[in-house]
Amino acid sequence: MAGSPHTAAPADLALVPRAELEADPHAVLARHRAAAPCIRTDDGVVMLLRARDVQALVTDPRTRQVETEFARARGITAGPLYEFFRQTVLLSNGEVHRRRRAPIARTFAFQVVAALRPRIRAIAEGLVDEHRSRGRMNLLADYAAPLPARAIAMILGLPEEDVPAFTAWVYAMSRALTSAWGPQDYPEADEAAHRLMTYVEDLVAERRRAPRDDLISALLPSIAEDDPDAAAEARMQIVSLIVAGSDTTRAALAIQAGLLLAHPDQWEAVRRDEALIPGAVAEALRFEPAVGSFPRFALAEIPLEGAVLPAGALISISTLSAMRDPALYADPDVFDIRRTDHPRWHVVFGGGVHRCLGEALARIELEEGLRALTRLPDLRLERPLTVRGSAAIRRVEELPVAWVVG
Ligand code: HEM
Repeated sequence: MAGSPHTAAPADLALVPRAELEADPHAVLARHRAAAPCIRTDDGVVMLLRARDVQALVTDPRTRQVETEFARARGITAGPLYEFFRQTVLLSNGEVHRRRRAPIARTFAFQVVAALRPRIRAIAEGLVDEHRSRGRMNLLADYAAPLPARAIAMILGLPEEDVPAFTAWVYAMSRALTSAWGPQDYPEADEAAHRLMTYVEDLVAERRRAPRDDLISALLPSIAEDDPDAAAEARMQIVSLIVAGSDTTRAALAIQAGLLLAHPDQWEAVRRDEALIPGAVAEALRFEPAVGSFPRFALAEIPLEGAVLPAGALISISTLSAMRDPALYADPDVFDIRRTDHPRWHVVFGGGVHRCLGEALARIELEEGLRALTRLPDLRLERPLTVRGSAAIRRVEELPVAWVVG
């Protein structure tokens, strides 16, 4: 299969069981990436491995974003969760995608988000202060989860007391975006989707009666009053923001702390010099990404160097693999917060028209989340970081940490 360009037929692609990938994703992907540009997994997906192809395919007109086939492949065919997948900005194409993205892109504009930094800093510092006297916490549940949840609540203008309820719904729903999803998860996720959608519907109605200075009020003109279907679709983009911004950033916050604390010299360097924080965030996102892949559909046969992507294939664009590709990064298996070879557009946030809309917010949350943690004296891991999942949103296990109470 590694032979001359464009020679391998689809059936010749190496077949890799998903369980093998899940057990040791970096090693398995590295082995195959050296031999071929893609593999097949036993759940019927063709996974794209090399940085050059990953970067090219996100804007290649021979691919399109997956639509409802994503939900159907997971056995989700009707009901509130299916409606989410049918109407979200993430899983749409062309004019429909532009219609769904434009209003939230305007309200999520870079300058608007950048102005939120002081308030996000206050959230992060407040969380550290809440736990400081205890000398320990589960960094995942006590810090990484509430930080993005409180940030999105602040942006949308949600009451702080609603945060635990809506984050529970979000985590149940976003399980459908992980490789751990199974039929047993369906009832809870479907109920959670119903509750979150109703919650957003009630909020929109409330803001219509009494607008405020928040994102939901800013989005009101894009939510039709006289067309229930259009209004439901527009509201679904608020649900999308809540879902897309919670689990991803929770995982990334825990991962970056776990990686830095496992590299004490680099942790110390960040503590001493705040200017290293953006580089530390970028490197953690590369080394152990919170999102390992995203899907596309091949509209035509796509020849690659050494294999052919079959027309009609469900493609998994493996950012996890691309960000360990020695063709893009020097010594890719070395965690180095001072690395200077990050591409201008960080691969972890995708590319093309679907490039992550929350990138600026995510970076601010990660930077401020890291900065506030450096104020805890002698912070240390009580258990090493474990990240699971080879695709989509990845999962982090509990991350107990301790520090000295001064
Ligand atoms: C570390 C954190 C995050 C990572 C790694 C991440 C990654 C991604 C990726 C890879 C995509 C593109 C998926 C595709 O092309 O199929 C995406 C899309 C998206 N992200 Fe993020 N994301 C993060 C945080 C956020 C946050 C904080 C928000 C907002 C609150 C957000 C909102 C979105 C939305 C709305 C889309 C869909 C854009 C579209 O389809 O046009 N994300 N994200």
